[in-house]
Amino acid sequence: MTALAGPPSPLNDRLQPGVRLRVVQMADAEALAALCEANRDHLRPWEPERDDAYFTVEGQRDNLHALVEAYAVGEMWPGVILVDGDIAGRITLNNVLRGPLQSCFVGYWVARAHTGRGVATEALRQVLDVAFTDLGLHRVEAFTRVDNHASQRVLERNGFTAVGTARRHIHVDGRWHDERLFERLAPWDDGIALAPPFSNPSG
Ligand SMILES: CC(C)(COP(=O)(O)OP(=O)(O)OC[C@H]1O[C@@H](n2cnc3c(N)ncnc32)[C@H](O)[C@@H]1OP(=O)(O)O)[C@@H](O)C(=O)NCCC(=O)NCCS
Repeated sequence: MTALAGPPSPLNDRLQPGVRLRVVQMADAEALAALCEANRDHLRPWEPERDDAYFTVEGQRDNLHALVEAYAVGEMWPGVILVDGDIAGRITLNNVLRGPLQSCFVGYWVARAHTGRGVATEALRQVLDVAFTDLGLHRVEAFTRVDNHASQRVLERNGFTAVGTARRHIHVDGRWHDERLFERLAPWDDGIALAPPFSNPSG
């Protein structure tokens, strides 16, 4: 992964050296099924409603198959968050749009046992490097439920700013919820360039 040019990250005070990201693999199905099942209650308020099959190895294989295909055509960067080599969560750049937008959305979760230690903050920092450097994107957006203060902290610590509130934006945990939209522009944005000077985005 290419390092972004510019001043040192303001997050250096809490770097998590054990946190690494990589693209999902079909071989992750067993570990992800176990992690999703163990974190079902932890994720239910924030994640889309899932049927029981999602929490099985076969269900995770189906999901991973779709993610790997979307990655292959450049629509998505589906990652796992590793802590000391073990899968501790997921982070995804999705809805990659090219042409005049050059944008995507980011979504993430961290297993309950790993929360509160800066894992999501560091994972988001690393995936922004993928978005702005490797993929050459210009803008990353994120929606969070208005009451998801931990997620909003993770975004703010990574330089995201709030755009506004989308009313009844997502149906999770049995009802519609308002969500806040956050945005972060690429560090290379100068108001003019379509792509970063140091890469050659595809598409
Ligand atoms: C949100 C989530 C990703 C955070 O993961 P994490 O690894 O614990 O995050 P970090 O430790 O990097 O940072 C959490 C921040 O939120 C803060 N925080 C935690 N709980 C909070 C709360 N209830 N209210 C306000 N802030 C809170 C922490 O203090 C920390 O901020 P700080 O760095 O200023 O101290 C994790 O809790 C999770 O997966 N939740 C369920 C799924 C989810 O919400 N995904 C995001 C959907 S948009």
